[in-house]
Amino acid sequence: MTDPADLPLERKAMLLSGQDFWSTPAVEEAGLPSVVLTDGPHGVRRQADDFDRIGLLQSLPATCFPPAVAVGSSWDPDVAERVGAAVGREARALGVPVVLGPGVNIKRSPLCGRNFEYYSEDPLLTGVLGAAHVPGQQAQGVGASVKHFAANNQETQRMQVSADVDERSLREIYLPAFERIVTSARPATVMCAYNRVNGVYASQDRWLLTEVLREQWGFEGVVVSDWGAVDDRVAALAAGLDLQMPGDSGAGNRRVVEAVRAGDLDEALVDRSARRVAALADLVAEPTDGFDADAHHTLARELAAQCAVLLRNDGAVLPLAPGTRVAVVGEFARTPRYQGGGSSHVNATRVDDALTALRAALPALSFAPGFSLDGSGDAAALREEAVAAAGDAEVAVVFAGLAEDDESEGFDRTTLDLPAVQVELIRAVARAAPRTVVVLSSGGVVSLEGWHDDVDAVLAGFLLGQAGGSALADLLTGAVSPSGRLAESIPLRLEDTPSFLTFPGEQGHVRYGEGVMVGYRHHCTVGRPVRYPFGHGLGYTTVETSGLRVAVTGDDAASVSVTVTNTGERAGRHVVQVYVATTAGPVRRPARELRAFTKVPLEPGESRTVELALDRRAFAHWDVRESGWVVAPGQYTVQVCANAAEVLAEERVTLTGDTVVPELTLGSSVAEWFEHPVVGPQLLEGFLAALPDGAAEMHAGMLQMIGSMPMRRFAADFGAAIPPAELDRLVAVARAARAG
Ligand code: BGC
Repeated sequence: MTDPADLPLERKAMLLSGQDFWSTPAVEEAGLPSVVLTDGPHGVRRQADDFDRIGLLQSLPATCFPPAVAVGSSWDPDVAERVGAAVGREARALGVPVVLGPGVNIKRSPLCGRNFEYYSEDPLLTGVLGAAHVPGQQAQGVGASVKHFAANNQETQRMQVSADVDERSLREIYLPAFERIVTSARPATVMCAYNRVNGVYASQDRWLLTEVLREQWGFEGVVVSDWGAVDDRVAALAAGLDLQMPGDSGAGNRRVVEAVRAGDLDEALVDRSARRVAALADLVAEPTDGFDADAHHTLARELAAQCAVLLRNDGAVLPLAPGTRVAVVGEFARTPRYQGGGSSHVNATRVDDALTALRAALPALSFAPGFSLDGSGDAAALREEAVAAAGDAEVAVVFAGLAEDDESEGFDRTTLDLPAVQVELIRAVARAAPRTVVVLSSGGVVSLEGWHDDVDAVLAGFLLGQAGGSALADLLTGAVSPSGRLAESIPLRLEDTPSFLTFPGEQGHVRYGEGVMVGYRHHCTVGRPVRYPFGHGLGYTTVETSGLRVAVTGDDAASVSVTVTNTGERAGRHVVQVYVATTAGPVRRPARELRAFTKVPLEPGESRTVELALDRRAFAHWDVRESGWVVAPGQYTVQVCANAAEVLAEERVTLTGDTVVPELTLGSSVAEWFEHPVVGPQLLEGFLAALPDGAAEMHAGMLQMIGSMPMRRFAADFGAAIPPAELDRLVAVARAARAG
């Protein structure tokens, strides 16, 4: 392969954008083939023919694995890794060298229309799952594209809106998943977001694409634009965006060439990006000989069953015992909702519905659709029919949820409520049936208010992929025990969600005013009750937690050891969740934050001791003054929790932390001067010596009064006490202490 930098300028500039909607141009003289990049992430959406068209509708059949909302609820990197690997195998068979995913944006609001494509409201859970999906896929020789970088947390105005986020929130909430994946899994590409971040298009944000991504995290792959995210091609290239997708018939490249010729753009930047794009050619391979659609369907079923979350199970109504007289109600039992709308929509190889799968296990069940998805039919008549079926049964199982039109990429929801006809149906069925189970299918969380207390059990399936129907049947009948945990809080009211007042923004801006208090961080910190907290999920067995031991392992890290025992009669999988709580440091900390987790299989009676490591980052905050991660000296409580709201065991550790010698200027406050570890004592000594007899005792109260005054003003007004030359000397002392 010729070095693309040796090509004539026009030819190498060609490499910087797509030749059509889904591929880069081949450059024969450099030995470079065309590279196809297509969606992702939970199945391959390979357009069948003409790459010049958007092709949202026709794509080659591929397995629709559980979307990210489900994988998030599995809390299991093994599930994410196996989805990635299977998608990679299918991509190889379909001739796709780069699959666009995973999506690792944080669920800032439950209303985001694309939450089905994201894992969680928590950055650690998101990052661990994404960092498992990527190697799974890339081990098959198929590049990943981690997206959408960054702060793409809504669909409203997604191509223009400025996400106005402070740096601490970016570093602690919105960037860590990208950081973990980039630093641990080396994705082939990162896709920049459509939106602006603090006023600058992500596609043109040098801080994001170059300083953070490459210089701080060491990313060496290709930065690709989201489809149509480039506003100013030359500015984007200068900021660090390598590949513009889709192609724009060469217009952007011509501008790049002109800018180089005019001396406005360094040709070295073209060379660098061309080399990076050229390196994607290594991923191009002869398509493999198809994929095993049956095996992948079976895998999709197995994985889906690890994802659903059992929220409630009063009186152990689930699992349904063989021979139970069951009435299945709800159109979703027959016409499953299993994936989201938009660019990730997969042409599934086949689709299982729960009704057929349940019939196989419970042949005598009755069925009534209860409501129609297109609004046709008489709602009252459909409800009455369902109520009659429920009245004849021992247990009614209602399949409710959101229809495809209710949520999708491209728009946000405006309510958390289920459609009113479904709420009425659930309530009517619950009145008629001795016991009622609700199974939910939706890409984002829905409100359970208005009907939750009427029913005995709730199984949240979210969207489970093409085998979701049979997986739900496996869970309902007890062939598999539920083991999912909520990856996002289910609030009592939309008004309780931390972004309520600012989502989705106004007049082109969305202000992330809640800062780091996203999801459970907010609910736990303000003590606001939720319907079900982050991390909640039941199984068909009971698990006890004991023997928590936390040891500081030097350098502000700790190890956690805890024993979990299956005290019930069924096998199950249990998620050990470790949170850290602290008030240490100069910033407001969330009441607790998830810092480690693992999912363990447990046979009845089995005990396992798990060891989890907490590195220094688990205790650190992003310090805007230090522009870095700082562990504040102080106490940290390590908590093993059933979920974000329920602590099972805790232990406190004291960490030495970082010694921060803060910067001191004449603009720093008097309090900052006196609290400075090196300058403070010297200053106090001189200050007290200069005070008249008897005044020294007053200094504490006085300090409080004048503490917030900038030293320059204090020194001018009370200058007799601190001569300017002394201040200059102390500034130098502070600078030397900070440097050394
Ligand atoms: C989406 C991306 C997707 C791309 C290509 C965009 O609209 O935001 O996630 O990969 O289209 O389909």
